[in-house]
Amino acid sequence: MNKKALITGITGQDGSYLAEHLLSLGYEVHGLVRRVALEDPERRFTRINHVLDRIQLHAASLESYPSIFNVLSHYKFDECYHLAAQSFVAESFSDGFSTMNTNINGTHYMLAALRELGPDCRFYFAGSSEMFGKARETPQTETTPFHPRSPYGISKVAGFELTRNYREAYGMFCVNGILFNHEGPRRGFEFVTRKISSTVARIKHGAASELRLGNLDARRDWGHAEDYVRAMHLMLQLDEPDDFVIATGESHTVREFCELAFAEVGLDYRDYVVFDAHFYRPAEVESLVGNSTKGRRVLNWEPSYTFEELVKVMVQNDLDCFAREKSQPADSLAFHGSGQYRER
Ligand code: NAP
Ligand code: GDD
Repeated sequence: MNKKALITGITGQDGSYLAEHLLSLGYEVHGLVRRVALEDPERRFTRINHVLDRIQLHAASLESYPSIFNVLSHYKFDECYHLAAQSFVAESFSDGFSTMNTNINGTHYMLAALRELGPDCRFYFAGSSEMFGKARETPQTETTPFHPRSPYGISKVAGFELTRNYREAYGMFCVNGILFNHEGPRRGFEFVTRKISSTVARIKHGAASELRLGNLDARRDWGHAEDYVRAMHLMLQLDEPDDFVIATGESHTVREFCELAFAEVGLDYRDYVVFDAHFYRPAEVESLVGNSTKGRRVLNWEPSYTFEELVKVMVQNDLDCFAREKSQPADSLAFHGSGQYRER
């Protein structure tokens, strides 16, 4: 019998890569999506279009316990990957209430419904290095104390604790992945790496003349999402549930990302990058770098992309996207809200 997995957030970056990975392993893959997404597949399924005929989608909202309960009462899953969240840190400062509601209550609803209907289902929670925030030690490990600096970070700490509590209180197989930043060609356009790679492509093609950014000195430990979804799956295959840091162990500044991305098209970032205070956050996470020794040993996991390769594939992908979009009639272009194009 093939294993049956449920992915919440399957339309997102990680959800789409994870769906591909699980399909390649022979899983029956189900996804939980918002009803609006089912009604607007052209725009909302851009990352999963190529696997739509091999997965099953179910409408539910993270804000509604009955909708989650309804899906879980109709299917018995072996594994549940809870990836859905309001994941943009800057947005969480603008609307902390809905971030908390989606990320905390949504996680609690998933856990409570599984406890009721499928307590043997293994559960993965998408924890984040953002939980370390103003990090108390460097590099960060599974034992580094949390000090979140945003409503998003706070919501992830709550999700982490809920997940651990369901493991300890009800004996469920619940694990927390503490994943550091992971990117790739399917990254949302609002995140800094994709903002840089997509704007570099636009500048190269004469469609933009500058790139407006906030804190260029912020440091992040950036890996490729394809590598990170492999770790999620490995965590659910263990004999005992546990929590793991997943990271490359290398950190780079936003400035270094810009330098490499512009160099990829033969340009100097200093001629195009403009500082814009609008992109500063009320409380910044200045520097994150992870120590994933435990994950590498126990899960036998390691990243396959270097930082330089990550920047290269993202810029090359956006150059290809731009060329493809330009060659299509105007009414078929899939423009993003911010005036940028989407990956097809
Ligand atoms: P993403 O691309 O922003 O995807 C988020 C997903 O959540 C989308 O499928 C989105 O659906 C769904 N979602 C948001 N609000 C929802 C709601 N109210 N009801 C149902 N679904 C909702 O994020 P990602 O980069 O793939 O990250 C996946 C998870 O890992 C998130 O929980 C994120 O916080 C966490 N994480 C990410 C990173 C990283 O660097 N990428 C690092 C650590 C942790 P729509 O398509 O309908 O909007
Ligand atoms: N988005 C954005 N836009 N960030 C900018 C900009 C800008 O114009 N200019 C500078 N930055 C800086 C941010 O201040 C931050 O320090 C850094 O670039 C990275 O920002 P994001 O790419 O938005 O990612 P993040 O680190 O805040 O959050 C991502 O990683 C977390 C894991 O640590 C998200 O994927 C979260 O969901 C994830 O949990």
